[in-house]
Amino acid sequence: MTVADETGTNPQVGRATHRVTYSHGTTIEAIDGQTLLDASIQNRIPHHHQCGGQARCTTCRVLILDGLSHVSPRTPLEQSVASARGWDDFTRLACQTRVYGEVIARRLLQSPQDVILLDLDELGTRSGAEEEELEVAVLFCDIRNFTSQTEKSLPYDVVYFLNSHFATAAEIIMNNNGFVDKYIGDGLLAVFGIRGEPPATACRNAVRSAVGMQDAARRLSPIFERDLDIALRLGIGVHFGQVILGRIGHPGRRQITVVGNTVNLASRIERMTKRVGAPILLSDSVVAHLPGALRLGPAIKPKLNGVSEATSLHACDGFNCTDPVLIVQSSFHQVAPRLMAFGERFYTVLFEENPELRGLFKNDLAVQQRMLVSMLNSLVKGLNRLTEIEGGVRALGRRHCRYGVRSDHYGKVANALLLTLAEFLGDDFTPEIRASWIAIFGTISELMVDGAETNMLPVAGRLSPDLTTS
Ligand code: HEM
Ligand code: FES
Repeated sequence: MTVADETGTNPQVGRATHRVTYSHGTTIEAIDGQTLLDASIQNRIPHHHQCGGQARCTTCRVLILDGLSHVSPRTPLEQSVASARGWDDFTRLACQTRVYGEVIARRLLQSPQDVILLDLDELGTRSGAEEEELEVAVLFCDIRNFTSQTEKSLPYDVVYFLNSHFATAAEIIMNNNGFVDKYIGDGLLAVFGIRGEPPATACRNAVRSAVGMQDAARRLSPIFERDLDIALRLGIGVHFGQVILGRIGHPGRRQITVVGNTVNLASRIERMTKRVGAPILLSDSVVAHLPGALRLGPAIKPKLNGVSEATSLHACDGFNCTDPVLIVQSSFHQVAPRLMAFGERFYTVLFEENPELRGLFKNDLAVQQRMLVSMLNSLVKGLNRLTEIEGGVRALGRRHCRYGVRSDHYGKVANALLLTLAEFLGDDFTPEIRASWIAIFGTISELMVDGAETNMLPVAGRLSPDLTTS
């Protein structure tokens, strides 16, 4: 933590410091003229900053609750962001806001889900129109035999079951850049491509979600069967086409939702999954955007209720090539409920294997564990949006250079990560999962090293990961 002496002066730099209080109750000291984002990072407060502080992503935004006169005026870059979005004076970009006195602020985005929800909100206000025509992938998911299975269950058990399933499914959807439009009884409707992604990306994200949801259901079902006597078997239908994204409802409480034939067709395709006995059915419009990428059954042309045109459908059970993003996300999902224990074990392994690295960690290790797992969590969730998180990863690399981290340390950290994953996943830690983590860690550390390259201490070779221990 940055420590202020009794006169409010930072003894390390000899400059005045100011109290910054975040609305969740944490108070830190910011050095005079420091940006709010830098003060958060220096004081180990998790603070989103996907573009690395360049006023491009808006994920660092804060609401100044008190002390607006104690912070710098908007920079021209921030001004253009704020004008485009119609922000009031109190909504500020933490990476552009310098502190010159006491401030009380609230971070507006605390989880990656918040990022997606705010994006959606802005989508509605950007055009000024009540509705927008978009090409998107629509996913419908339903629980097989839900009504007959839960007829005799206690309502509390049913609510618990549905919430557990929905929480897992929604997490997977949001990790893949989708948004859950609505929950309908035991079903849900999700949409991919609302951020203007190319059709192939939207379709890939929808299929990744479908495969990830089926994977999670296979893992969760035995637990639900044992505890609640309810099996979690899903039918999922995906279709790609045009929808209207509109704000619907009472003027005081409008909700963003998608409507149109594409939505109806996706729902009909989902209903067909039971008849043909396929967990996932894709329309040919989805398949056409991912040529050769999917493991598909033969095309079928069933008559879909209320749909005049004939639509070919394909059963799908995954991707042809290994998809490291999907594999890393779904194995991380298995670890997620024990994330703090994971962080603790990771550092124990790291220092057992590399005692010489312990000296680099000057601050409270428990705080560091929280920072690392929170960062890992955001990184894994952001893998589908690498271009968006790239700036933040490079900035993380630059800070690591200041912590004394050298490029040859990355292989050691990767090793400790793999060993910890192997412990936590047990028999589920397959060679495919291992290879996927190596690939993804490689990408992240390349970016971090690249971000730091001007400051990086020279070592033989550029990146020399030591990934030989299994
Ligand atoms: C994927 C790779 C890595 C990720 C995601 C990561 C994440 C983090 C995060 C989130 C922090 C908190 C401070 C900040 O945000 O600046 C941090 C601090 C730190 N990391 Fe990493 N890190 C990675 C690789 C490494 C490596 C290879 C080393 C080398 C030993 C390392 C050593 C440190 C040290 C020394 C600190 C400062 C600790 C302190 O202040 O006590 N990290 N890291
Ligand atoms: S706008 Fe501040 S970090 Fe991206």
